[in-house]
Amino acid sequence: MCGIIGYSGSENAAERIVSGLKSLEYRGYDSAGIAAFEENKVRIIKTVGRVSALEHRIDECGGIRSGCGIGHTRWATHGAPNDINSHPQVSGRVVLVHNGIIENYHELKTELISQGVSFVSETDTEVAAAVIDSEYNKAGDPLKAILAAMPKLTGSYAFGILFKDVPGVIYSVKKGSPLIVGVTDNGGFISSDTSAILRYTKKYISLENGEIAVIKGASTEVYNSRGESVKKEILTAKWDAAAAEKGGYSHFMLKEIHEEPEAVKKTLGIRNRHGYIDFEDDGITVEQLKNINFLRIVACGTAMHAGLYAKYAIEKMARIPVIVEVASEFRYSDPILSDKDTVLIISQSGETADSLEALRIAKSKGARTIAVVNVIASSIAREADNVIYTYAGPEISVASTKAYTVQVATLCAFAFELAYSKGRLTEQDLMYYSKIILHDLCEAIEKVISDEERIRGIAQELYDNENVFFIGRSLDCALVQEASLKLKEISYIHSEAYAAGELKHGTISLITNGTPVISLATVPEIYEKTMSNIVEVVTRGGKAFVVCGSDFPDNSAILYRYELPEIDRMFMGLVGITAMQLFAYYMSVLRGNDVDKPRNLAKSVTVE
Ligand code: F6R
Repeated sequence: MCGIIGYSGSENAAERIVSGLKSLEYRGYDSAGIAAFEENKVRIIKTVGRVSALEHRIDECGGIRSGCGIGHTRWATHGAPNDINSHPQVSGRVVLVHNGIIENYHELKTELISQGVSFVSETDTEVAAAVIDSEYNKAGDPLKAILAAMPKLTGSYAFGILFKDVPGVIYSVKKGSPLIVGVTDNGGFISSDTSAILRYTKKYISLENGEIAVIKGASTEVYNSRGESVKKEILTAKWDAAAAEKGGYSHFMLKEIHEEPEAVKKTLGIRNRHGYIDFEDDGITVEQLKNINFLRIVACGTAMHAGLYAKYAIEKMARIPVIVEVASEFRYSDPILSDKDTVLIISQSGETADSLEALRIAKSKGARTIAVVNVIASSIAREADNVIYTYAGPEISVASTKAYTVQVATLCAFAFELAYSKGRLTEQDLMYYSKIILHDLCEAIEKVISDEERIRGIAQELYDNENVFFIGRSLDCALVQEASLKLKEISYIHSEAYAAGELKHGTISLITNGTPVISLATVPEIYEKTMSNIVEVVTRGGKAFVVCGSDFPDNSAILYRYELPEIDRMFMGLVGITAMQLFAYYMSVLRGNDVDKPRNLAKSVTVE
């Protein structure tokens, strides 16, 4: 949440900063700002609203001619989104942009006020700037000031810092929030992620907690928390600039749904070395899997919903009990874990604060941790005992789509491998399922995508409703949770997902004349039960829409049915989710919403 960027070098800093902020906008977009050295003086322009509003304000102010500056796009935590609370924040000689939260800002502020420091904003960031400034006044050296300030600041942060009397230099430090340093021949960047610098460079350094980067043109020095110079490896980003752009689609979300088949092939094709998918290259052997007798899956939001799918697949195929927990609850539940347990963390960004903390708790209790992560070298990926990377490419739209699909496909492959280790599947079975994932699944998703116009037609029927309900049983019950989340987060329509059999126990009272109820039906063994629930809903005035297998019985109660392409039933529900993602997308478009940046949300939730 919040994105920071900075550039120091011989090229136009403002252009690079604004371009970077546009890529980082998915991290927060309620205000934006820039600070840059112009003729050795720091000039600050900031505004409430989107990066485009900042760009406009910069133009109005006659542009910025600078080779060194920092920028910020904000998701407000402390203080309302307004010009004063937006970043950069200034205290004395320190100008600072921040991603994270300073938890002890209130005590620090009280202490600083008692020392005569005054504040203009409500932000924790201004307090951090004041702490560094106060240390700078004592030490007279920027690096020493940052080193002295760090132990005083509790919480998480990635800072980009300018010292007013040290022109051309960016100081940057991180603890708990993501930060990378981009390397080019003409200058250096700091950024919350690689997508913001891909247009200029693929070379970057990943900073560890407590490390400080000092960027002066093309020269970058990194110091550890004792102030000693450290040598860092220069990494190469696997994504290119095109992957982080819309490529002709009207929204990133639509582009990312279209990328699903490719993302599945890319992620699991490279693990298909013996005619079947395995995880040996990820350091997960059949021998290790054999010892797993119980699994806890911990994640947030859509990633947690991928975990619900995994629970179904693992319990069905490997007959191992699985508990799926929301990370924000898990971390405060004093979980009962020992060194005999395995905890699986799922995260697209690899930076979600609750999931990261859940991972640390699981490790501290001796459990083995396996992370399924999309962002290379992210915090969760670095700290887990094993990491299974998904190669979905950058996911820019706030609503997760391709990352979910790839997580589920990967976790299903993991379930099959687990079942194999337990002697419940043969090598032949693994080959069969690997072919289904790499071929049939991708083909079925493509078919649904080619049906986009029909799905848009259904959205056209429903987009002016204020309530939509989803129902399903068994795996479909887990899946409608994701369908409902997708719809509500981007269309702002009130939507709930229920176990179809639970309706009679209370929720059916919400069904009134004309309420749309969308059923997902992909599990043939319980078709009849789902059908009874559909009839119950229609009897009470509900309008029944069904997304189902072609073998789902017909009934006059159904107003509209959308049949999914035939595929092994372990995967039909996943294909159904692609249809639901497209449905949510068009509902949002038809309601005139900002699809990729829904209100109040940010993509990477790096605060609690
Ligand atoms: C919803 C969505 C969120 C994320 C959640 C976890 O569309 O994207 O619910 O799934 O914030 O994020 P990651 O996977 O980055 O840990």
